[in-house]
Amino acid sequence: MSSPTFYVTTPIYYVNDKPHIGHAYTTILADVLARYHRLLGVPTHFLTGTDEHGQKVQRAAHLNGITPQEQCDQTVVRFQQLWQRLEITHDDFIRTTEVRHKTIVQKSLQDLYERGEIYAAEYAGWYCVPCERFFLEKDLAAGQCPDCQRGVERLAEKSYFFRMSAYQSWLVNYIETHPAFIQPEHRRQETLGFLRQPLTDLCISRPKSRLNWGIELPFDRDYVTYVWFDALVNYISAVGYGADAAQFARWWPATVHLIGKDILTTHTVYWPTMLKALGVEMPTTVFAHGWWLVGRDKMSKSVGNVVDPMDMVTAYGVDAFRYFLLAEMSLGQDASFTEDAFVTRYNADLANDLGNLASRIIKMIRRNQDGRMPAPSEPGPEEHELVELTLGAVGHMQGRVQALQLDRGLAEIMAAVRAGNRYFDRLKPWSLAKAGDTAALARVLYHAAECLRIVSGLLLPVMPAKMTELRRALGLVEDAATPALAGLSRWGGLRAGADVADLEALFPRIETKPAAPPTAAPPTAAPPTSLPPTSAGAPEGIAWIGIDDVNRVHLRVAKILSAERIAGADRLLKLSLEVGPETRQIVAGIARFYDPAALLGRAVIVVANLRPAILHGVESQGMLLAAKQGSRLQLLSVDGDIPSGATVG
Ligand code: MSP
Repeated sequence: MSSPTFYVTTPIYYVNDKPHIGHAYTTILADVLARYHRLLGVPTHFLTGTDEHGQKVQRAAHLNGITPQEQCDQTVVRFQQLWQRLEITHDDFIRTTEVRHKTIVQKSLQDLYERGEIYAAEYAGWYCVPCERFFLEKDLAAGQCPDCQRGVERLAEKSYFFRMSAYQSWLVNYIETHPAFIQPEHRRQETLGFLRQPLTDLCISRPKSRLNWGIELPFDRDYVTYVWFDALVNYISAVGYGADAAQFARWWPATVHLIGKDILTTHTVYWPTMLKALGVEMPTTVFAHGWWLVGRDKMSKSVGNVVDPMDMVTAYGVDAFRYFLLAEMSLGQDASFTEDAFVTRYNADLANDLGNLASRIIKMIRRNQDGRMPAPSEPGPEEHELVELTLGAVGHMQGRVQALQLDRGLAEIMAAVRAGNRYFDRLKPWSLAKAGDTAALARVLYHAAECLRIVSGLLLPVMPAKMTELRRALGLVEDAATPALAGLSRWGGLRAGADVADLEALFPRIETKPAAPPTAAPPTAAPPTSLPPTSAGAPEGIAWIGIDDVNRVHLRVAKILSAERIAGADRLLKLSLEVGPETRQIVAGIARFYDPAALLGRAVIVVANLRPAILHGVESQGMLLAAKQGSRLQLLSVDGDIPSGATVG
C-alpha cells in the first residue's frame, strides 16, 4: 500500500434491511484509514454505497408491500443517516440503481460478450435463493446450501456464462506472486485452497421470469445480470471507468477493498477474473476482516441479537463507539460484542486513562498557570519513558495503518497515555505547586501536555469530535482538526502562552448497575439452578462472575508447530502454534518446565482473544493455559483427537 494515492472501498451494502454493527465496523475502519491518509497528505478517495439489485432486495420489497425502488429509496436513507451520525467522511456514495453505474455494467457486459468472454448455454444446477448462487451437486452440504445451510432448488434454464475457468491458472499464479493481494495471510491461503478445485464458468444471468429487479443484459432483454456481476463493478464505475479516463487513472487501482470474510470468494476469485477479462489492473489489496459475534453467537435477526449501531451511539456517543470497534477487533479475527465488554473497555481506556489524563493536565494548567500553556523545556531523564512511548506510538502508527493493525496501533497509543498518567503520579505536580516550585511545575505540566497533544493527534482519525475538543482546549486552535503527522513526531510542538480552555469530562465514567441481591430478585428472575449475580455465597476470596464474563474469553485448541528458547530470558519459550487456519506466535513462561523439542505437535489450550503484547522484545499473540502448584507446572491439553481451532468452553 505504498501508492501515491489512497483509494479505499467498503462493500456496498444490501438495502434489504437496516444497517447493523458489522456494516458500521467496515465503514468506520475505512473512514479511519482515509482520515489517516489525509493527515499524511496522501490524496485519498473513500467510496461506500449500496447494493440495490437482486433477489434479497426484491423479496424485502415484496414483504414490505412496496416496489423494489421504494425499498431502495427508503433503506438507503438509513445507511446515509448512520454514516452521517458516525462522522463518516466518504468522498462518494454509489447506489447501483444510479445511471452512472448501470451504464458501465452494461458496457462491460457488452464488451465481454462481443469478445466471447460471455457465452450462452443450458444450465442445470442447485440454486440457493437467499445466497442467489448456483451450486453443483458435489458442492452441496448434505443436500443443503454449503454457505447458509438452507434448502436449495433444482433449476434448468438457458443462461449466460462468464469464462471464469479460463483464468484459473493465471489467478493462482497472480496470488502466489503478489503476497499483498489478499490479506491477512490465512485468507490468501483460503482462496488458494479454493482454487485447488477446478474453477467452473460463472453464471452471470437471471431470467426476468424469475427475477426482474436487476440490470438488463444488453444482448438479451429477457435477462438481468447476476447481482454480484453488477455489484463488484461499482468499484470501477464510481471512479470513471469507461466514462472519465482521467478520473479513472487518478484512482484506479484501488489501494484496498475492505470486506468481511464471508465475501472472500466473490472478491478474490470472481472480481480479479472479471477485471482480467476486461483488461483492467488488479486492486492492490483485498482485506477480509472477521465477524462480529454477539457474545459467542452469530448475529441474526431470528435470534434477535442484532446490534443496532444507532442505539449504541445514542447511549455512549459516537467517538467511544468508533474507538471500541477498532480497538476490540484484531487483524482478521472474529470479535465478540457485548455491552459489558464495551463498558469495561470504555471505563478502562477512555474514562480512567485518557479522560483522566486530559482532565488532570488541563485543570492544573488552568489553576496554576493562569490558564496559559507553560514554556517548553528540553526533556530530561525524568521524561525518558514518556517521550519514548509517545513518540514510539507515532513511529508505529504508520506501519500499523498500512498493515491494517489498528487494534495494535491503538494499544500503543494507550500505552503512551498510561505513561502520561504514571509521569504525573511520579512527579506529583500538585506537590510542586504546594511547595511553590514553579519552574519544576511548569516543566511537568508542559511535558505531560505534550504527550496529550501527540496522542490526541494520533487518535483524531478514530475519535474526531472528542479529540478536536481536547486539542482546542490545549490551545491547538489552528490545527485542532488537521494536525500534520510530521508535527506529531517531534517533541515540543505546544505553543507557550496559548490559552488553555476548560474542558468538560471527555468520557464520563459509566457506572455499571450493581447487580440486585438475590433476595430482591423478582419471582420471574433466573431459575434457582443459576447462581446469584453477586458474590454472595461464593467461596471466600472468590467473586462470582456471570456467563457473559466467561464468554468473553475465547479458548481454542492449538497445535504446537515449533518452540525455541529466547536469548536472555531463561523462563520464556517462543512458540509457533496452529490455531485452525491461522498461525500464532505465543511467548510462554514454561522454559523451566518443558524442553522445546518435547513440545512439538502437542495439542494445547490457548486464550485466543488476549490482546497481543511484547514480552522480552518478542510479540505474543495469546496465552497458553497451564495448571500450577508450588514448583510444578503442566500444560492443559485435550482428551483425544480434535483439530486445532476447536473451541473450548
Ligand atoms: N452486497 C454485498 C456486498 C457487495 S460488495 C461489491 C453484501 N452486502 S451485505 O450487506 O450483506 O454485507 C456487507 C458486509 O457486511 C460484508 O462485508 C459482510 O461481511 C459484513 N457483515 C455482515 N455481518 C457481519 C458481522 N456480523 N460482522 C462483521 N461484518 C459482517 O454482502
